[in-house]
Order: sequence, then C-alpha cells, then structure tokens
Amino acid sequence: MKNIYKNSSLNLARAKKILMKNNIIGLPTETVYGLAGNAYSNNAVKKIYKLKKRPRINPLIIHYYNLRLLKKDAFLSERFLKLYKKFSPGPLTYILKKRKNSKISSFANANLKTIAVRFPQNRIIRKLLGKLKFPLAIPSANLSTAVSPVCSNDVLDEFGKKLSFILDGGKCKIGLESSVVNLNKKIQILRPGAISAKEISKILREKVYFSNKSNKVISPGMIKKHYSPGIPIELNCKKMDDKAAFIVFGKRYKKQKNMFNLSKKGSLEEAARNLYKTLRKIKKKGFKKIKVVKIPKSKIGIAINDRLKKAAN
Ligand code: TXA
Ligand code: MG
Repeated sequence: MKNIYKNSSLNLARAKKILMKNNIIGLPTETVYGLAGNAYSNNAVKKIYKLKKRPRINPLIIHYYNLRLLKKDAFLSERFLKLYKKFSPGPLTYILKKRKNSKISSFANANLKTIAVRFPQNRIIRKLLGKLKFPLAIPSANLSTAVSPVCSNDVLDEFGKKLSFILDGGKCKIGLESSVVNLNKKIQILRPGAISAKEISKILREKVYFSNKSNKVISPGMIKKHYSPGIPIELNCKKMDDKAAFIVFGKRYKKQKNMFNLSKKGSLEEAARNLYKTLRKIKKKGFKKIKVVKIPKSKIGIAINDRLKKAAN
C-alpha cells in the first residue's frame, strides 16, 4: 500500500521531515496507532483536529522522549517523578500543570491549565522522538468517536488518501489506549488502561480514585459515544442470537458461526489486544448488532469493560 511505509532509517528520516514541516503522519505506539504532529505548532495541531473531526474542546496527549523538553513545558511534581521512574516509557499518561511560558500550542490542550503527557515505549516512535527538537501531539488515529486502530491498515481504513504517510510498526503490543491519571489534588484515573490504579497506588502510597465521568474537561453530553464500531452493542449477554455477532472470552465457548473469542485461553492481555480488531472485523462483515459476554473486571479487564461500556453508549 503506497501510504504505508516500513520501519527503516530512510522512512524515519522522511517522517521527521514531514513533521518538521508541520504536517501530520500516522505512527505506531505500544497502545494504539496515533496521528502525530508538532505539539509546538498551532498549524500542525489544527490539522490533527481537522483530520480526526475532533471537537476542539477535547485536548490531545503530548508525547515526549524524556524529561529534557518536558521540564520547560510543565511542572514536574514529586508524584509524577515517582511514577515516571517506575512506568515510563510506557502506557501511562499524566495530567500535569502547564507552565505559562510553555511552547505547547494552546490548541493542543484546549486552552486548559494542564497538559496530558506520555512517554511511549514502542521503539519506532522512540527513535523518531529522539531525533526531534519538539514533542508530538498524538491522539489515536481514528475519526472522532470511532474505534482506535491497532495496525497500519486500520489507520488507512480510517483516513484513506487524506493521510499520505503512515509508519508501519506491525500490531500494537497492548491494543488499548494508555491509562490517564490526574496527579493534581486527589489522584484520579480518568481513563483506565494497562497500568492499573492498584499499581499506581502502590508506588505513591496514596489512595487513587476513579472518575465516574469519562472526562472532566469535556462538556457534559458532548462525547457520550466513543470507541464505537457504529452498530449497537449489548453487554453482559449470556446467549447468542442468529443476527448478532457474539463476542466471548475464555475456553468454555465452542467455536460457532458468528462467534468471536477475544482469548480462548482466557488471557485478559490477549483479549485487550484483540478487542478493537474484533470490533472492526464485525463491522466489516456487515453485522447489525453485537452481543458481548461478561468480561472479568480485574487488571486490564477494567479497561476492556470501560471501552465496551462507552462503545455501547
Ligand atoms: O495510548 C494513548 O494514549 C494513545 C496513543 C496514540 O498514545 N493516544 C490517545 O489519545 O488515546 P486520545 O486523544 O485518543 O485520548 C486522549 C485522552 C482524551 O480522553 C482526552 O480528553 C484526555 O486524554 N486528555 C488530554 N489532555 C487532557 C487534560 N489536560 N486533562 C484531562 N484529560 C486530558
Ligand atoms: Mg481516541
């Protein structure tokens, strides 16, 4: 496919050039694929919102190589530094206070006093970040409200010719978006992910709360639908029916037509990796409805349930 570029030093140099011109590329991370642009450039950031058709009030995550540039853009609290040592680079996003003289485009953080910050682990994006003199604003590479992409073809699926450069990095290792933790005042998980509240609480030795709103910064009712394959989803189902695609988990299900097992061996990590791919496949096959069995609410199962709930909204 002509928009998709293999991981090579030549293509990384090409990616760098495009980003330096404040244009947008698709790229892999360990969680999901992203749409990347220069976070210091209003122009680049505006192009991201336009391409995704994302409401401007929904801020982006700023991706850094290390603390060198971040120090100039945000205040690094003790809580943050403790978590950074343990979990970064990796699938954890921190909400930090933005510095007044930060170079981050105010479009990127929707004019808030805070910025969301992540240090991705995937080695391709790390190589690229290491070569740049600016951080990257990167939302998931899907149209607003749709399912996140977990391979380069999914990104092509979403944007077609509108995105001329996608760096290929194979399948995403995790398959669900990063955990988002607010470290200001009380510690709050805004979006569950591979790194759990429990693990964060253990490092900080403080209580970690869950936000019942999917996101405080979003005005109520604005983004009810999210991670949606565009067809109705029913949760906690016990039985299949002829018309619906049936998503199951674990070894007690015998293979049948219309049945999609997220993990036959009952691994929640594997289920997380397969979730978005499965939703995309079901949509493509033309099903009009999806039924899902109960998925255990432990570890990354918490994040799986969160995404399914929002997809079902
Ligand atoms: O795993 C990930 O985080 C992926 C990859 C590409 O890195 N990115 C991703 O970005 O999921 P996006 O834009 O799809 O989700 C960003 C989330 C949104 O829920 C947004 O509202 C929240 O982070 N967010 C961003 N800035 C924020 C802020 N200052 N305060 C609170 N929430 C914020
Ligand atoms: Mg997203």
